[in-house]
Amino acid sequence: MADTPPRRGDERFAGEVNTMFDRISGVYDRMNRVMTAGLDRTWRDRAADRAALEPGQHALDLCCGTGDLAFELANRVGPGGEVVGADFSNPMLDLARGKTGARQQVRFEWADALDLPYEDESFDAVTIAFGARNLADLDLGLSEMKRVLKPGGRLVILEITQPARQPLKSFFGLWFDRAVPLLGKVAGDSAAYEYLPDSVRSFPTADRLAARMVEAGFSEVRWTLMAGGIIAIHSGVR
Ligand SMILES: C[S@@+](CC[C@H](N)C(=O)[O-])C[C@H]1O[C@@H](n2cnc3c(N)ncnc32)[C@H](O)[C@@H]1O
Repeated sequence: MADTPPRRGDERFAGEVNTMFDRISGVYDRMNRVMTAGLDRTWRDRAADRAALEPGQHALDLCCGTGDLAFELANRVGPGGEVVGADFSNPMLDLARGKTGARQQVRFEWADALDLPYEDESFDAVTIAFGARNLADLDLGLSEMKRVLKPGGRLVILEITQPARQPLKSFFGLWFDRAVPLLGKVAGDSAAYEYLPDSVRSFPTADRLAARMVEAGFSEVRWTLMAGGIIAIHSGVR
C-alpha cells in the first residue's frame, strides 16, 4: 500500500494514478456505493441519457473502470450497436469483463486516454465518468476525445465538482476532507481516498471546464449540476 497520494505535476503522476486504481479495484464499487449512498448509479444513468445515443450507434466510454457507464450505454445502443470501454488499469478491466453477462455489444480494452488507439471520427459519443480529473493532461485528453468523435458526435463528462455556494461548500469540506479519507482507512487504502478530494480541488470548476471544452473545439457546451452542486454533467458536440 502506498503511503502518499499521487501528486499532480510530479512526472510520475500518471503511473501513480494507474497503480492506485489497480490497487483499489477490489473495493472500488463498494466504496462508490457507500460514499454516494448509491446515487452514483443515477448519475451514470443521467450521463448516459445525455449521450443521446440511438440503437445501432457506436460509443466509447473512457476511463471505464469497472464498466458501469459502459453498460448503461450498451442498453441504449442495443444489440446492433457497439460500446468500447477503455481504461489503463487491467484489474479494473477484468472486473468490468466479469460483469458483462449477455451484453455482446460491449467490450473492454486497455487504452491510455491521452493516446487513444482509435481511428479519427470512430464514435457517435464519447463519455468519461469520474475519469477526467485523473488525467495528467486534461487538454490533451479533450483533444483525443474530439479526434475520435464523428462530426456531430457528443462528448459527455460526468465529474465531481467543487460547489460554489454554501451550505454545500461546507458539507463538501467535511465529507471529502474528513469522512472520505476515514472511509479509505477502513477500506485499507488511505492514500487513494486522500487523493480523491485533492484531485477534485485541482480540477477546473464547472464553468472553467466548460471553457476548456470550448477551447478544445466543442460547440453547444452546457452543464447540469446534481446532488446540490457536487456533481456535474458537461456535454459538448464535435
Ligand atoms: C474514478 S475511476 C472511474 C471509473 C468509472 N468510469 C466509474 O464511473 O466508476 C477512474 C478510472 O480512470 C482510469 N484512468 C485514469 N487515467 C487514465 C488514462 N490516462 N487512460 C485510461 N484510463 C485512465 C483509472 O484506471 C480508473 O479506472
